Amino acid sequence: MSRSQHKIAVIGTGYVGLTTGACLAKLGHYVTCVDIDEAKIAGIKEGQMPIYEEGLAEIVQEGQLSGRLNFTTQLLTTVVDAEFIFLCLPTPPSSDGSADLSAIQSVAKQFKGNLLPGTIVVNKSTVPVNSALMVQDLIGDPTIDVVSNPEFLREGSAVHDFLNPERIVVGCDNPLAGERVGALYLGSQCPVIVTDPVSAESIKYMANAFLAMKISFVNQAADFCDAVGANVVEVMRGLSFDSRIGNTFLSPGPGWGGSCFPKDTRALVSTAQEAQRPMTLIEESMRSNERHISTVTALITKTARDAYGTDARIAILGLSFKARTDDVRESPAIAILEALQKAHSNIVCYDPVAKMADNSSVNRVNSLKEAITGAHVVAILTEWAEFSDLPPIEYAELMAGNTIVDARYVLDPLQFSYVGLTVRSLGRP
Ligand code: UDX
Repeated sequence: MSRSQHKIAVIGTGYVGLTTGACLAKLGHYVTCVDIDEAKIAGIKEGQMPIYEEGLAEIVQEGQLSGRLNFTTQLLTTVVDAEFIFLCLPTPPSSDGSADLSAIQSVAKQFKGNLLPGTIVVNKSTVPVNSALMVQDLIGDPTIDVVSNPEFLREGSAVHDFLNPERIVVGCDNPLAGERVGALYLGSQCPVIVTDPVSAESIKYMANAFLAMKISFVNQAADFCDAVGANVVEVMRGLSFDSRIGNTFLSPGPGWGGSCFPKDTRALVSTAQEAQRPMTLIEESMRSNERHISTVTALITKTARDAYGTDARIAILGLSFKARTDDVRESPAIAILEALQKAHSNIVCYDPVAKMADNSSVNRVNSLKEAITGAHVVAILTEWAEFSDLPPIEYAELMAGNTIVDARYVLDPLQFSYVGLTVRSLGRP
């Protein structure tokens, strides 16, 4: 092992942990990933990925073949001689909105007295401000540094984002430990921001909250455009040339969701309220997002009722919270589906990969064409390329009705008008 290759333990093999472990091995380190879920570990060893993430299976296999990536359920035998221990454990929102840190707490307690002096524990999970201190106290060993190293991985492009970071953030009271963590990202040309733990944790929350607020703004602009007859796609294009606004994350949609934005905005708002400094802009962004999901639902319901009454056959295209992921956690598409089910009984759904815990309440079919066949109304809720790749004529031939509610603005209304179909999007005449 050269001086730049290190022995790393990664605790947790979920969306963050598995990507982190496999990518650190790809960078040349010797990584052992630990999970308490024996079945999950056994499956990963057989090449079965527990999550859908482009490129992940390949780098997991590459790491295993090179001998630099291993998987186990044994926590202590793994961490006992690790130079770095990455905590990639779930921090789900608890009932009051604050983050549930029980997984991190139970693991950190097991470290007490079991780590080599000088080991660096790295908080990769999104943890509330001041959690690095909590982990430090639980380990109770001043020779062990705890470094906050938040992830900025988007689901669906997590491998790319890990290997091509725009910045690396490390927060630690001991700057040397922070720099050692930053140095693990071999070959990354991006800036490394070494700061204190509280600032590092705050960077993560503020980044996600700002992005969520940006999407809420774009969706509210779609509502405004719908009222005044402007085209929100053109309006956002007009904004995108302003470098202060940026030209990404300006796509209107059915609302934001997923396992990060909702969790992180709740946790940030909860921390701010406790500090008597409420972040009302984020509180309103969350409320606005909820309203927007209802607005899109109402558009689909109105479209169905106007055309075919309550027995209209509605085809829902897309169930995950966005394209290129199987994750349905806090998916706006699921929220819209459940709301539609209250008034409509003739609903069919299709999603290429979404992993739903319980498919029983959903009439889910296995192909796009099967879903739109006989549909009076089609609603596009995630931006899978196959939905826009299907030629308009095929929609026209297979659908029973002639209206598509395109909540992702991925279809060209003009092209569809040539085959007699109306594409309806909020804020796009
Ligand atoms: C986000 C952050 O981008 C990432 O940096 C962080 O580490 C984790 O949270 P992710 O939750 O995977 O990543 O999804 P992202 O691609 O950011 O989208 C979040 C939500 O915003 C999705 O519901 C998506 O559909 C929506 N969105 C995003 C839009 O509606 N319009 C856009 O232009 C972009």
